[in-house]
Amino acid sequence: MVEDRPINTSAPVSTPTEAPEKSATVLKITGGHSLSGEVRISGAKNSALAIMAGTLLCSDECRLTNIPDLADIKRMSDVIRALGVGITASPQAIDFDTRHLSTSEAPYELVSKLRASFFIIGPLLARMGEAQVPLPGGCAIGARPVDLHVRGLRAMGAEVMIEHGVVHATVRGSRRKLQGAKIYLDYPSVGATETLMMAATLAEGQTIIENAAQEPEVVDLANFCRSMGATIMGDGSNKIIIQGCDRLHSTDYPIIPDRIEAGTFLVAGAITQSAFSIFPVVPDHLLPVIAKLEETGTKVIAESPDRLRLQPQGLRATDIETLPYPGFPTDMQAQFMALLTLCEGSSVVTETVFENRMHHVAELSRMGAAIKLKGNNAIINGVPFLSGAPVMATDLRASAALVLAGLAAEGTTIMHGIHHMDRGYDDLEGKFKALGAKIERLTTVEAE
Ligand code: EPZ
Repeated sequence: MVEDRPINTSAPVSTPTEAPEKSATVLKITGGHSLSGEVRISGAKNSALAIMAGTLLCSDECRLTNIPDLADIKRMSDVIRALGVGITASPQAIDFDTRHLSTSEAPYELVSKLRASFFIIGPLLARMGEAQVPLPGGCAIGARPVDLHVRGLRAMGAEVMIEHGVVHATVRGSRRKLQGAKIYLDYPSVGATETLMMAATLAEGQTIIENAAQEPEVVDLANFCRSMGATIMGDGSNKIIIQGCDRLHSTDYPIIPDRIEAGTFLVAGAITQSAFSIFPVVPDHLLPVIAKLEETGTKVIAESPDRLRLQPQGLRATDIETLPYPGFPTDMQAQFMALLTLCEGSSVVTETVFENRMHHVAELSRMGAAIKLKGNNAIINGVPFLSGAPVMATDLRASAALVLAGLAAEGTTIMHGIHHMDRGYDDLEGKFKALGAKIERLTTVEAE
């Protein structure tokens, strides 16, 4: 049994010339501990990132609260600051002063670190009549094209060219204002819906977005824009109508709780058969996850309007298929698969949103899971137990799945690629430790 040595993140590394890289940090998880108590859910990453881009629409100062403390939030702040926006961050809030927006050119070295920073193209174009934003690269889960964003902006009168990996968008005319348009999205893309909804708030006339994404983060962004004086109707449905205006004023806006972090903790309770509470949450945002958890044998009780409690009663197989909201969220697919590896019977997981979001299958198999992968379908036969092992996180939600598997496994799991987790979870190991999990962050030297 390796005694728990104090975590010393400044431990000397083997070769003195190397500073301990972030990637040299690992997560050590000792499985078999049940969880109890309560955990506080942070603000929603995918809402905060879109709304931070939305601050560019404001001709004044605005404040965001309940922002999660994440690497991705820091990267988005860097991109927005590079545009000339004054940003003042405190533990409780981030203040944005966009009165002196000075450039429409987003730097490659910053945008390339965060795909979501591409969302600034709509607000930049709406505010300044032009935008130069590097194409976001693909990532582990897919090519992540932005053709729907571009097609919608063109429909609103922007001239858009892509040269040397940069999207150059310009609005001609004396007022350089986008024009309201009727846009049909081939796919209910969250990002494209958000980009075009933001651009439309300052366009001339009415914009209608058909086959729009209905995710709660889209509604949160619409609520943020309305709090600045925008006229938006239908958000949360597949048809959004935006009446453009000339100017949006300051606001002080709280981000909604993160439904994916909440779902991750619900699955943690099921996979460790533990009863604990999570808050604040919006239960309506979690309906597909709660419904599927109950099919596996874990009941989820509402203790109050924004507080849920788990009541696990066994582990039974079920099937999930990821779909745009209100279907089962793709961002919960990996975490739920970790649970299904221990559910008695045979489960099928079908990923329909991204073309390459099954990297966690190989890593879960290293822990003893019985999974057959056929394209984007995984057939999972439940096993009686998982065994701790050294594993590699390949993307954000795969990292969460491996943490969950490690919590339930027999023995110790060492998870590499911890930077993926830090992008999208606010102190995940600290929150699990507070629930009673044995989990700690070590340098690779200490973990040996
Ligand atoms: C958002 O990504 C989220 N990210 C993702 O969360 C989430 O998985 C995804 O929505 C789906 O819910 C943020 O909000 C920052 P999409 P986004 O546009 O907007 C295709 C996480 O783990 N598509 O709805 O990029 C695309 O390739 C992340 O927190 C086009 O073909 O997702 C994909 O197959 C991962 N052309 C599908 O649509 C386009 O122009 C869904 O993508 C745009 C998208």
